Amino acid sequence: MSDDVTLYRGLDGVHIDTSSISSIDGLKGELIYRGYDITELADKASFEEVTYLLWNDDLPTAAELAAFKESLKPHFEVRSDVLDLFRTMPDDIHPMHALRTAASALAAFDAQADGVGDDNVRRIGLSLLAKFPTLTAAFERIRTGKGPISPDPDLSIAGNFLYMLTGEKPTEAATRTMDVALVLHAEHGSNASAFVARATASTLTDVYSAITAAMGCLKGPLHGGANTAVMEALERVGSVEGVEEDIMNTLNSKGGRVMGFGHRVYRVLDPRAVILKEVSHTLAEESGDSKWFDMSLEMVRIMDREMAKKGKEVKPNVDFFSASVYRMLGFPKDMYTPIFAVARISGWMAHLFEQYSDNRIMRPRLVYSGPTGKTFSPVEERS
Ligand code: SDX
Repeated sequence: MSDDVTLYRGLDGVHIDTSSISSIDGLKGELIYRGYDITELADKASFEEVTYLLWNDDLPTAAELAAFKESLKPHFEVRSDVLDLFRTMPDDIHPMHALRTAASALAAFDAQADGVGDDNVRRIGLSLLAKFPTLTAAFERIRTGKGPISPDPDLSIAGNFLYMLTGEKPTEAATRTMDVALVLHAEHGSNASAFVARATASTLTDVYSAITAAMGCLKGPLHGGANTAVMEALERVGSVEGVEEDIMNTLNSKGGRVMGFGHRVYRVLDPRAVILKEVSHTLAEESGDSKWFDMSLEMVRIMDREMAKKGKEVKPNVDFFSASVYRMLGFPKDMYTPIFAVARISGWMAHLFEQYSDNRIMRPRLVYSGPTGKTFSPVEERS
């Protein structure tokens, strides 16, 4: 490799552009969305307010929020031939395969799918923001032998999602908990899936292609698939007493990673995990069953002890406590990543607005490490 080349594997520490959407301070454990601290937004703002903030320059006025909510209403419904796709799929496929396929299929029925002008991109963004909950709930009901429930346009995104899953209007408390989870998962800078969305859009391809690519990226267990992996670990271990051995087995295996821990940017506790830990604790107390919360605390205790021995800062990330939260909210564990996508469509679209508005195609380099100077021989002479 020539002297003037520096490799940044995993693009670690590489800044690809400027962005005014969010900022992460990995040393302070701080996340802000357009200047507002995530802790305050999670405590006081709805997912609709936060999405308006991410898609514009500031929080909406009451009139702007009302207009934004009104603009979503015509988009909640999903046409039956797209929902029928779920009926053609085996019941046991990974939900992200189903949702990625359905999201991509929406392009086939959008005559303006390919335009990347700001107005058209925002129109598609509204449509996907409104349809992701409908698609996710419909998939779950169809695979469990129930018919999909049409959205109630008078409910919020969080409330509608819970309603379309159960057919019952959710309580204020359940809706607020769902809202907090969506706010916390909405946006996180140039994470792998947002980067993929931006890199895909940088060729000036359409929004549906960029979002489909981002969904494929989010599914991975090192990214948005980690929440499901955390619950798989909790179920595998089954008790507080079994946690230590399981973690030690993972840490002692080559390249072993304990799901739900660690982060490329945070060197201290992810501020979203701080909030989700409180939500998990509250749900545990309200349900009278603290098993998953207690096991999560034990995982943190063992990881803190073991990482301290190694001099490493490997703390719970957003996926860690969200696993026990979603479990106690009654979601099947393979639906946790789709719920992540229901929230992250908000952040992905904010990044697409930025990318399309001031674009440069992304094209990094690779240092060639293969052979050179080889001479071609006809196939019949090759042994
Ligand atoms: C999300 O980027 C984002 O912002 C993503 C996200 C978002 O909102 O979009 O925050 C959401 O994806 C959160 C991350 C979810 N993934 C997981 O929980 C999977 C488990 N975590 C790891 O695979 C890892 O921590 C990553 C993928 C999150 C980060 O990977 P890095 O930055 O490449 O870190 P690394 O794997 O090189 O680890 C650095 C060191 C290693 O020590 P060495 O082997 O180099 O000596 O820290 C250790 C690791 O051993 N380490 C872990 C660990 N994570 C890091 N050790 C045990 N278990 C872990 N989970």
